[in-house]
Amino acid sequence: MSYICNQCGYGSASWMGRCPSCGVWQSFIEKKEDQETKKIAIEKLNILSLEKIPEINKNKKTTGIFEIDRVLGGGIVDGEIILLTGEPGVGKSTLLLQSLNNFRCLYISGEESAGQVSQRAKRLKVNLKNLLFSDNTQIEGIITGLKELRKKIDILVIDSIQTLFSSKIETPAGSLSQIKEIANQIIDFAKKNNLPVIIVGHITKEGEIAGPKTLEHFVDCVLSFEGEKESNFRILRASKNRFGPTDEIGIFEMESEGLKPISNPLIFLENHEEKPGKAIVGITEGKRPLFFEIQTLTVPTVLAIPRRVVKGLDYNKVLLLLAVARKHLHLSLEKFDLFVNVVGGVNIKSTAADLGFIVSLVSSIKNQSPPKKSLFVGEVGLLGEIRKIYFQEKIEKEAKRLGCSSVYSSKNLKNIKEIKSIFNF
Ligand code: TYD
Ligand code: MG
Repeated sequence: MSYICNQCGYGSASWMGRCPSCGVWQSFIEKKEDQETKKIAIEKLNILSLEKIPEINKNKKTTGIFEIDRVLGGGIVDGEIILLTGEPGVGKSTLLLQSLNNFRCLYISGEESAGQVSQRAKRLKVNLKNLLFSDNTQIEGIITGLKELRKKIDILVIDSIQTLFSSKIETPAGSLSQIKEIANQIIDFAKKNNLPVIIVGHITKEGEIAGPKTLEHFVDCVLSFEGEKESNFRILRASKNRFGPTDEIGIFEMESEGLKPISNPLIFLENHEEKPGKAIVGITEGKRPLFFEIQTLTVPTVLAIPRRVVKGLDYNKVLLLLAVARKHLHLSLEKFDLFVNVVGGVNIKSTAADLGFIVSLVSSIKNQSPPKKSLFVGEVGLLGEIRKIYFQEKIEKEAKRLGCSSVYSSKNLKNIKEIKSIFNF
């Protein structure tokens, strides 16, 4: 007799309380003997000549919301499986309801009742005529029902995969083995019937929950919906896309009437007044130039080890840039506590913001504003050199168009030492 972990499939000759592979308690179940001795049916190797395969129907159906279509690469392809991940409460269900107007849809929700979904959909002014709803959560039942319904719908939405269960498996809904089984059944049906499916998967801040992460390999497109609780801005990104680009983002603002698509690249700038400690940076998200305000506050420290509080930029990147600034600009940073923030509650990952951060730092320490209507674009290397970034020209052009009078980049600054001349020290 042998045992396997029902979470990760780890095998063992004896029963164990805790799986040494995945760390889950009480997950060992007896492995059925007949699984081992069963005679297997051998499948014939099916060989196809790729040259003769007709091209996949590349007809993309648009959602009608440009910010979503942009991320999807034009729209949704027949039979495409899309995984939409994000933290609970970020707005995934809202985004889906708003984007389904062009489709006849079956919306399966294990999270909300028909009443709740319909009330919200009405508030969002969604066309309810084409929206069918079910709160069934047994996947076998859903698949059987779908077989009859296939001709009447263009898309299936599962909100969320964590709430469904398969009766073939004994573990509770939301466990890894359940999620895998449900995904297998949905994907199998969708591919055979050319039905596009959007699967919602909750994920925690650290991306900890293994479920949706393991699904990423099975699906065609992984979208993540991000945003800080205290900010109304939401960003939709594609981290995997078999039918489109992965470098585009969609920006939305959550309002009482639902999510509003944002196309203005200056949305994150509150006011254009120059102040000590602030710098405007230009980056690209996808192929799209965007402008952000980085604020740095430096105050004399009373601690032996000064504080560094960072929001919106990568903490280690900030430490690295502080070291570069210390070495090449001879700033006594050890005397200051430092607080960094990107306005709007967004996270900037682009290295194009490096120069702007150092400028905001110098500006705060010297208590001088950067020049009027100035923009900073550039990656900073360990030697203090300022490097060119992708799409630099595009950002500069857009900045000029929007009324920015001076752009500082690798074109007019070679090394961060030259920042001294901006602030006269
Ligand atoms: P929801 O779509 O339910 O999130 P998820 O499906 O990712 O868990 O969105 C929940 C939040 O959005 C909720 O806190 C309220 C807010 N919200 C608005 O601010 N305006 C709206 O019009 C709607 C529908 C929701
Ligand atoms: Mg939801």
